[in-house]
Amino acid sequence: MNPDLQKLQPYPFEKLKALKENCTPEVEGHIALSIGEPKHAAPAFVLDTISSNLNEINRYPLTQGNVELRTAIANWLTKRFKLADRALDPEQHILPVTGTREALFSFAQCFTNRNDDALILMPNPFYQIYEGAAFLSGATPCFYNTVKENNYLPDFDAIDEADWQRCQIIYICTPGNPTGSVISKSQLIELIKLSQKYNFIIASDECYSEIYFDENKAPAGLLEAAEACGNNDFKNCVVFHSLSKRSNLPGMRSGFVAGDAQLLKSYLLYRTYQGCAMPPVHQIASVEAWNDEQHVKQNRKLYVEKFAAVIDMLRPVIDITLPDAGFYLWLNTPVDDETFARDLYQQQNVTVLPGSYLSREDAGINPGKNHVRLALVAPLDECLNAAQRIKQYLINL
Ligand SMILES: Cc1ncc(COP(=O)(O)O)c(C=O)c1O
Repeated sequence: MNPDLQKLQPYPFEKLKALKENCTPEVEGHIALSIGEPKHAAPAFVLDTISSNLNEINRYPLTQGNVELRTAIANWLTKRFKLADRALDPEQHILPVTGTREALFSFAQCFTNRNDDALILMPNPFYQIYEGAAFLSGATPCFYNTVKENNYLPDFDAIDEADWQRCQIIYICTPGNPTGSVISKSQLIELIKLSQKYNFIIASDECYSEIYFDENKAPAGLLEAAEACGNNDFKNCVVFHSLSKRSNLPGMRSGFVAGDAQLLKSYLLYRTYQGCAMPPVHQIASVEAWNDEQHVKQNRKLYVEKFAAVIDMLRPVIDITLPDAGFYLWLNTPVDDETFARDLYQQQNVTVLPGSYLSREDAGINPGKNHVRLALVAPLDECLNAAQRIKQYLINL
């Protein structure tokens, strides 16, 4: 048995299940705001493409994906992040993956130089895969806290010189899960400069980049920051994107990794052995999805309405603001987060995720403590119903 397996923590939903075990909700009708699974409808044209290409199932897919998909992705990235024409070569800079989760995980195994010193930096609180990826690649996770006083953004200046020297990979998550904070282009540039100085890889998880609330304020991305500071070959920079949230296609397992061509060449070799290639029919459907922005705009509109309505309802009873982006509310709770989640479930039959299940104690603080994560993925009526019940719970506190 690989001894590193013992370092993996139970997934947050296991902890949540245990927390709720002895509760009996006092009202009918359960509402789950705990899971970040998109619930808006998948685009019909994508489903049609899938059903009319089912015969593709009798072929093995290429690990590198077909050129049509890589071209569609390169075009999308170029337009979305205003990159220079032909800055991205679909042969070298793009690699389709079967959802960003598996890619974020395997990436660390591919690029960690296993030695006692290996550090992988990651935000705290964080998407749990980063920590597992660090452990299973033989590295030590090293957290940087994202706290309210700093608008839940990283403070790269606060990271020790010794940690930068040992850092092999840093995961960033922008827009952040769970915080919803977006790292600015200038802060990304600052990080790129650090990566040049200390020679580490930046793995930028941008899978929430298309869920934002102001059509004129799309979140910045690492590749545009690289171009903006003259890093035109994207050295040390890799981004992870997905159709799961952008296009409400989590079951299709379609995403991509893009950036530094040298890294992607090695990662392709790694993936050839790993054997995680996207089914041909999903590749064809993904081309359609990346080529269309209309459904993405409509999707955003639904989130804009939902966030406005829920925040309006909760504002009188709790400190709450619109996040920069993403589909989570990261609430600072007036009581301990586990107590909040358990009692809310018991009294109002609404499930939310305690923030401390997404974070670790570091530098004497646990930045997830006294926070809960609400995923506003359900339809508007259901989210409003949940907000009404949360309000009642808070009033009764
Ligand atoms: C921050 C973050 N990254 C990556 C993923 C993985 O998404 P997918 O594998 O569907 O692309 C998720 C899913 O919830 C996430 O929250």
